[in-house]
Amino acid sequence: MQVAIDGPAGAGKSTIAKKLAAVYGMTYLDTGAMYRCIAHCVLNQGGNFENTDDIIRIAEKAAITFDGDRVFCNNKEVTEEIRTPLVSRHTSDVACIREVRELLVRQQKAYAKDHAVVMDGRDIGSVVLPDADFKFFLDADVLERARRRKKELDERGIVKSLEKIAQEINQRDDNDRNREEGPLIQMADAIVIDTTGKSIEQVCDAMRKYIDGAKA
Ligand code: CDP
Ligand code: CDP
Repeated sequence: MQVAIDGPAGAGKSTIAKKLAAVYGMTYLDTGAMYRCIAHCVLNQGGNFENTDDIIRIAEKAAITFDGDRVFCNNKEVTEEIRTPLVSRHTSDVACIREVRELLVRQQKAYAKDHAVVMDGRDIGSVVLPDADFKFFLDADVLERARRRKKELDERGIVKSLEKIAQEINQRDDNDRNREEGPLIQMADAIVIDTTGKSIEQVCDAMRKYIDGAKA
């Protein structure tokens, strides 16, 4: 079985993807972490985000692996480092480069060949798993998504205003929606769930109803 989950930042994709994967004994693949790893490598290696060739060269050398929730890049754990606001900001710079997307999409498709997967991202239902058994598009009001992110940042001791977070989320969503390669789009065959005001459990239950209903 293949489950594709797409949607804007903070919609709850990764939290819910992990839960669904656990329920159905499937593997979860966090494709956003892969794009984040490339941005992190560029920052670490002093690469220039204006120089596409630089970024492609760095991406081609990046070996990204997962161990449960932990993320490794070139054999170094980067689980926490790839979640900083700086990396978040630069991730959409690398994610709009065609060669970077082709490279990562190839790896994601190869992974899905050998595993029953729940994958979350922006182009999963459209590009990575166009024949997925289930496609979901999770969305939520931008202020609620910003509040969710603020809570996470507060817990990590990172001080940022709700307005600033909402502005950054909007900027990143715009970049993701308007790029030419693998943009964030709501596929016609995706089940759309507005998660505004809904708990993680409520969203998970709604998705399980679709999956279990179709399997019954
Ligand atoms: O957790 P959040 O939704 O904030 O971000 P993420 O899923 O970790 O993705 C970070 C960034 O990676 C996104 O804003 C996109 O620019 C990019 N991305 C992408 O282009 N395609 C994907 N399949 C997944 C992420
Ligand atoms: O992956 P994505 O950026 O779509 O979102 P996430 O990282 O799964 O969720 C962002 C934050 O919102 C997490 O701290 C979740 O626990 C929280 N969340 C929530 O409070 N209620 C939901 N219905 C979904 C997510």
